[in-house]
Amino acid sequence: MSGTDPSVTTAASSGRRLPPWVCRVVDGVLEASVVGSFSRIGPDVRRRCEGWDDPPSLDGRTAVVTGATSGIGLAAAIGLARLGAIVHLVGREPRRLEEAVRAVAAVARGTTVSSSLADLADLDQVRELASAVTARHRHVDVLVHNAGALNRQRATTPQGAELTAGVQLLAPFLLTGLLLPVLTTGPERARVLTVSSGGLYTKRFSLAALEPDPLHYDGVAVYAHVKRAQLLIAHEWAQRLGSDGPAFPVMHPGWVDTPGLASGLPGFRRYLRPLLRQPADGADTVVWLAASAEGTRSTDGVWLDRHRRGEHRIPTTWLPPRQYAEARAALWAWCVERTGWDLDSTAVGVGGSGGDR
Ligand SMILES: NC(=O)c1ccc[n+]([C@@H]2O[C@H](COP(=O)([O-])OP(=O)(O)OC[C@H]3O[C@@H](n4cnc5c(N)ncnc54)[C@H](OP(=O)(O)O)[C@@H]3O)[C@@H](O)[C@H]2O)c1
Repeated sequence: MSGTDPSVTTAASSGRRLPPWVCRVVDGVLEASVVGSFSRIGPDVRRRCEGWDDPPSLDGRTAVVTGATSGIGLAAAIGLARLGAIVHLVGREPRRLEEAVRAVAAVARGTTVSSSLADLADLDQVRELASAVTARHRHVDVLVHNAGALNRQRATTPQGAELTAGVQLLAPFLLTGLLLPVLTTGPERARVLTVSSGGLYTKRFSLAALEPDPLHYDGVAVYAHVKRAQLLIAHEWAQRLGSDGPAFPVMHPGWVDTPGLASGLPGFRRYLRPLLRQPADGADTVVWLAASAEGTRSTDGVWLDRHRRGEHRIPTTWLPPRQYAEARAALWAWCVERTGWDLDSTAVGVGGSGGDR
């Protein structure tokens, strides 16, 4: 666990609002500066300027959160439970998962908190996870793909994929696919949220980069490529399923003081520690997208601090539309081949109601 308390949310309304044009100028200046936007300054200033309200209630909604034992995932689970959601936590280590369930149950408004153990590196465990969630919940309204790490050393999954790509691309792809039957039976359009990273802005999509050369492994570069690929696969899901399927918003949390940051980028954390966000600030946009109408509007862009941002900050990461469509299709085919799951194998219905089984 980080030394910070993820249950301390600062997301409540400040009650003050400056004129929208002032907020737009302030937000634009922060965004252009990168440090002002990604650091704790971003949410501090935007919250005050825009007078952020608490998101709407999630009563009757079910949310599944991966990587819920720590950092942003735990803070998101707590935020969702505070809004009344039935929360299902996914973790890979029994003791940490039990602690997380207790922390979320402590703020839950009379709803149950359920959990599953699964190491998402292992696709067999992802399949078991999907069965457990489907057996327990009639509908899943929010699925948060948050689990992941920046791995400095190369490692592979039991099925032979590079670990970062396995946990943050293949596992979410398979889990989304297997949960589609319960993602399309809720009272409202479901949201499949991906916690990406500002690191995606540094890379142009490359399928080859998802299978890096073991002799020249650069964990930071692979992580950034995987985070870029998360955006493409979200677009591909949204296009393939259309408006009958869930919405697929992608967000990035800024720079957040978590155990993951401490192990993945220790030097970065040491120097920037006073400027790092608390986990609740990193998770605020996850919770907001899960509950507010904006969460179902469109998959375009990358959300940060309740605003949709561009998908590129430097021109070299951009692909012309035709190449972009081909890249997305190739990524989809790559995921299908490596997970053995394809859309054709699923019967997806829309409508219905219910709650816990
Ligand atoms: N912190 C930042 O500044 C930052 C910035 C951009 C993006 N992000 C993204 O935010 C997400 C959460 O990261 P965090 O910073 O909150 O780090 P964290 O505190 O280390 O949390 C990561 C979570 O993912 C879980 N996890 C990792 N590998 C897993 C696996 N193979 N199977 C199941 N669960 C696994 C961890 O479980 P354990 O508790 O068992 O380790 C933990 O619950 C990640 O996707 C990360 O890329 C973070």
